[in-house]
Amino acid sequence: MKDLTPNKADLDPIEVASIDEIRATQLERMKWSLRHAYDNVPMYKQRFDEAGIHPDDLKSLADLSKFPFTYKNDLRDNYPFGLFAVPREQIIRLHASSGTTGKATVVGYTEGDINNWADLLARSLRASGLRRGNMVHNAYGYGLFTGGLGAHYGIERLGATVVPMGGGQTKKQVGLINDFKPDGIMVTPSYMLNILEEFHKQGLDPRDSSLSVGVFGAEPWTNAMRLEVEKAFDMHAVDIYGLSEIMGPGVANECVETKDGLHVWEDHFYPEIIDPKTGEVVPDGEMGELVFTTLTKEGLPMIRYRTRDLTRLLPGTARSMRRMEKITGRSDDMIILRGVNVFPTQIEEQLMATGGLSPHFQIELYKSGRMDALRVYVEANSDAADELSKTASARMLSKRIKDMVGVSTEIVVGDPGEVARSEGKAQRVIDNRDKE
Ligand code: DLL
Repeated sequence: MKDLTPNKADLDPIEVASIDEIRATQLERMKWSLRHAYDNVPMYKQRFDEAGIHPDDLKSLADLSKFPFTYKNDLRDNYPFGLFAVPREQIIRLHASSGTTGKATVVGYTEGDINNWADLLARSLRASGLRRGNMVHNAYGYGLFTGGLGAHYGIERLGATVVPMGGGQTKKQVGLINDFKPDGIMVTPSYMLNILEEFHKQGLDPRDSSLSVGVFGAEPWTNAMRLEVEKAFDMHAVDIYGLSEIMGPGVANECVETKDGLHVWEDHFYPEIIDPKTGEVVPDGEMGELVFTTLTKEGLPMIRYRTRDLTRLLPGTARSMRRMEKITGRSDDMIILRGVNVFPTQIEEQLMATGGLSPHFQIELYKSGRMDALRVYVEANSDAADELSKTASARMLSKRIKDMVGVSTEIVVGDPGEVARSEGKAQRVIDNRDKE
């Protein structure tokens, strides 16, 4: 793999600023953001007043913990534009997430917000090893989802050529990659596996492709998956994180030279980790739920937004700003099986370590008598698809999950192509517990 470490001179000065300088910038911006939310969003005024706290009470960054949390439901309750802090006329872009339950959540951006977003996405791409003059194939979905357009404007801001492909049409994706020869690709990791499969179907060696870096995010994926994709394409695989409520992709990003977790762009977003049960802030290094406060957002300021993503904060390495560890999963996706917490990423890790299986999988939760039970659908590699190999792989995976995760599962090994393929975010868990 090529050394893609960016030139120090190309970084934003704040990326390599001292911690003191970063904290000072944060405090100043946090004061502005709390005041902006309080003065312009009725919900924040009411919440702060009820909690007996005022923006002027923030004297240090630690004082933030006295302010109330904001939840996804608050966006639903104020659907569609009730949490916007500027008149609708100043909002130049809307995005929305469909949400599997309830109403969609709608987010809005001012011209300044869109400008910051493009800057931060460009910063993320630079950290990923891309630079001005490169070409980037963008296979994140365009439309209301923040992935496609968010990445698009960032690629342009970097000064690279964007190929605005969007999700789906996998054959065509591979055709364009071969014809245009992009340096980078932006896509969900699960869809990248689908694209990889298409390379093989067309008799092409993915290692011969022009791609030297993939910027993967929008869903959890493991380091085991990283190694698999890096080996298959002979390219770097870097993690990008974000969420619509806070901005979209580009809230945090890994650096290609270290790949040791995602640097949170702390000059725009202030992270906290809390104990999801008590709401107490836990020290850096401890696992918990990630909470964000936006520091510069004009259209939709978010104060202590509960992401439900589980991770921990670590000190900076390649950049001064703190890192968040790769996301373990969302608290919503956590399966509790006979008292043991199980995340789809743990299943992925064991699957990748088991021979004879391809990396596609889906988990079904069902009732066995009065107990919850878990079934994992996987599929055999084309060179291990005979019944004997399948039985051996199933046994091995079941044992690994039992030993490493601590739960008993039923493993169903299908033929190549049997597990549903993703064209965006993969649906990892199917809950059939209320079905007979
Ligand atoms: O998924 C934004 C995005 C697009 C990020 C493209 C990266 C690339 P939402 O649809 O609002 O926004 O979903 C946000 O997706 O709270 C996480 O649970 C999950 N997620 C996003 N990035 C990662 C990641 C976009 N790198 C939700 N690792 C978040 C794990 C991720 N989970």
